Amino acid sequence: MALKHLSQKLHQNRRSLDALFYAARKIQPMSGTGDTLQAARFFIGFLPSFTNLGYLARRALWQQEVWDFSGQHWLVTGASTGIGREIARQAAAAGADVLAVARSAEKLAALASEAENLPGSIHPIALDLSLVASTEQLIDHALAQRPGLNVLINNVGVLLNTPSTTIEGLDTGFATNLLNPWLLTNKATERGLLTAGASIINMSSGGMYNVPLSVAALESHDDYQGALAYAHHKRAQVELNAYLRRIEKGRRQHYVMHPGWVDTPGVETSLPDFHRLLKPFLRNVPAGADTALWLAARRPDQRSPEGIWFDRALRAVHALPGSRQGDDIETLLAYLQTRCNISHAK
Ligand SMILES: NC(=O)c1ccc[n+]([C@@H]2O[C@H](COP(=O)([O-])OP(=O)(O)OC[C@H]3O[C@@H](n4cnc5c(N)ncnc54)[C@H](OP(=O)(O)O)[C@@H]3O)[C@@H](O)[C@H]2O)c1
Repeated sequence: MALKHLSQKLHQNRRSLDALFYAARKIQPMSGTGDTLQAARFFIGFLPSFTNLGYLARRALWQQEVWDFSGQHWLVTGASTGIGREIARQAAAAGADVLAVARSAEKLAALASEAENLPGSIHPIALDLSLVASTEQLIDHALAQRPGLNVLINNVGVLLNTPSTTIEGLDTGFATNLLNPWLLTNKATERGLLTAGASIINMSSGGMYNVPLSVAALESHDDYQGALAYAHHKRAQVELNAYLRRIEKGRRQHYVMHPGWVDTPGVETSLPDFHRLLKPFLRNVPAGADTALWLAARRPDQRSPEGIWFDRALRAVHALPGSRQGDDIETLLAYLQTRCNISHAK
C-alpha cells in the first residue's frame, strides 16, 4: 500500500522523478567506482526498506514493549539533536541516568530541562568530540561522576560536504565519526568506565554498503566527496565492531546498527536534495532511535561477530558488489594508532 503510494507520488510528479535520478547521481561517488548503476541499485534498492515504509511494515510484527532502564548509567554522544537526543530522552523516560554529550550547551540544557519530570535524568556535557583531548576529558569527567556505565551509545556522526581539519591536525569527519568513538570505547574499557556486561551501541549508516574498507579513503584528499568519506567511516565502524566482538568474547556486548533514513537536522543540512525529495517517506526520530533502545533493553545474542542491526534484526554487512575487496582490519588498526599518536603530538 505504502509502496503503491510512493510510486504514485513519483509518477504524478515528473520533477520528483528527475530529482530521484539527480539524487542517485549525487550518491554515485559513494560507490567509489564511478558506477552509476551501483548508485541506482543502492538508492532504489534500499528505498522501501530504509524509509518509513520499511519501518512501518516491520513494526507491525513487533510486540509492544515497555522498557525499564532504572538504575542504569548511560552515555549518549551526539545527544543535542536528532536520533541521539531521542535515545537520551527515551532512556531517561525509562529510568536511566544519562550523560548527554554534544557541542551545544544550550541544546543540551533544553533537553535536560525537558527531562526534569522523567523517572530518570539527563546530565549535559558540552564537548567537541572531534578532539581526542575532549574524548579524554569526557572519560575523566564520567569516571569522576559515575560508578560505571551500563550503556554507551556512540551516536555522534557528521556528513561534512566541505573538508576541514581539527586543531589536532585530523580530518574532522574522520575524527568525529571514527577515531574518537573508537578511542572512547577503548579508553572507557581500559579505565574501567564500561562495566563488565555493558552494552556499546555504535551508530553506523546504510551508506557503508556502497564501499569496501579503505584506509586511504578515511581522511580528505584532493577529490574529497563528503558522502563518500562518510560511507568509508561507517564501513570502518562496522569492521571495528566485529573486531571488538572477536576480542572481547562477550565480556561486553558490542553492537553496530543503522537507523534507516531519518528526518533529522543532520540530514536536512548535509543532504538537502535527498531530504527535500524523500521528506514524506523519511522515518521520524523515534523510529530512528528504536533499534538502539531495543538493543540496550534486549541485549540480543549475536553468534557471528559480523553483522549490522537494523529494525531489530541482524543484517548482512555486504549487499552490493565490490564491498568485500578492501583492506584488512590490521591495516585499519595500525592507521588509527598512528593517527592518535599524531594528534597527541600536536
Ligand atoms: N538521520 C539519518 O538518516 C541517518 C542515517 C544513517 C546513519 N545516521 C547516523 O545516526 C547518527 C545521528 O544522526 P542524526 O541524523 O541524528 O544527526 P544530527 O541531527 O546531525 O545530530 C548529530 C548530533 O551529533 C552532535 N555532534 C556533531 N558533531 C559533534 C562534535 N564534534 N562533538 C560532539 N557532538 C557533535 C550534534 O550536536 P552539536 O551540533 O550540538 O554538537 C548532534 O547532537 C549519526 O552517527 C549518523 O551518521 C543517521
